[in-house]
Amino acid sequence: MSGKRYKFAAPCLMGVEKLLANELKFMDAENVRADNGRVFFEGGAEMIARANIRSRIAERILLVCASFEARSFEELFNGVRDVAWCDILPINAQFPVTGSCLSSKLMSVPDCQAIVKKAVAESLKSSGRIKGMLPESGALYKIRFLILKDKVSIMIDTTGEPLHKRGYRALSGGAPIKETLAASLCELAKVRADHTVIDPTCGSGTILIEAAMKALNIAPGINREFVSENWSIAPSSVWESERELARNAVRKDAAFHGYGSDIDEEVLAVARENAKKAGVGDRIDFSVKDVRNYEDIGERVTVICNPPYGERLLDVNEAEELYKAMGEVFTIRDGASYTVICPDDDFERCFGRRADKRRKLYNGMISCQVYQYFGTGIKKKK
Ligand SMILES: C[S@@+](CC[C@H](N)C(=O)[O-])C[C@H]1O[C@@H](n2cnc3c(N)ncnc32)[C@H](O)[C@@H]1O
Repeated sequence: MSGKRYKFAAPCLMGVEKLLANELKFMDAENVRADNGRVFFEGGAEMIARANIRSRIAERILLVCASFEARSFEELFNGVRDVAWCDILPINAQFPVTGSCLSSKLMSVPDCQAIVKKAVAESLKSSGRIKGMLPESGALYKIRFLILKDKVSIMIDTTGEPLHKRGYRALSGGAPIKETLAASLCELAKVRADHTVIDPTCGSGTILIEAAMKALNIAPGINREFVSENWSIAPSSVWESERELARNAVRKDAAFHGYGSDIDEEVLAVARENAKKAGVGDRIDFSVKDVRNYEDIGERVTVICNPPYGERLLDVNEAEELYKAMGEVFTIRDGASYTVICPDDDFERCFGRRADKRRKLYNGMISCQVYQYFGTGIKKKK
């Protein structure tokens, strides 16, 4: 281990913290700790680039600059001013401040914002490198504070546009699933390089695209930009070598193939376009089909889907009729597994079988369950 070590926090959807923690450990992050809706970890400057380029599940990567307790504006000011800001920010940095306060003595966000801003400015000026106003004309360092039960975290966003924006989905269907949630489902379904994955209600194809990228080990951020690419603590050489590592790790030999279907022909055109943009167009076939008309789902297939939800696309009765039909199609087969995300508490009754495994997750603000069914020959882990 050499070079300066940094602390990070990666916010994520509620319910996927452990998946994210494992993902970060797999990329050699240190002291990984899952919390509610976020995961803390540590690493060198390379981890800024690596976590941003490779994480399929994190929403963004925040550099944690300080953590301390504060019950007064003075304590907040002193805690922020004591950070060695000159080691992180150039003197011309743009540093807008945003944040939130929850269950704390300090609850006025605008006041805390102003105090954090003033404390950072004072710390930068104390270096003696500048007198008067800071120019704020250089690279962008978005400072975020979180005051939770009087514990202050001061962080800088290293990501910019959130990580779910992979860059392949300029287009989307009516109710697209978030890329990070789709990737989490693929993780839960244990998608591997040689899998055949089916999404029978595929919409704009997000689940299959994420499955293909995982199977081929294509890093989700390989083709996009990040706000910290202009930072002195993560120079371009670090980004170049992390991108090179990610490019070399792509498994072109993977036997993966995906099959997506939907009743909506127009949304399938969007899916094809998105898959092509993501570089996995030749790995997925899309076709018009009603899920009720599947005659044989096949053996050794991994089915992952988010069928239409009562409150979004169909009324509850229609949706439940569809879950019943899905239960008749998704029978117990050798080596087949079904992973379905759905907010309907009655899903298992409609589907006709109790799930082998259930997990609570959030699709945006909607509380859902992931129901998993395993065929014979698949180890069931409760
Ligand atoms: C929640 S959306 C799926 C979104 C998709 N995961 C995405 O990322 O765009 C549900 C999809 O189910 C499709 N659908 C509705 N009824 C269907 C049926 N009977 N058979 C197949 N697809 C159906 C809808 O057209 C819609 O695209």
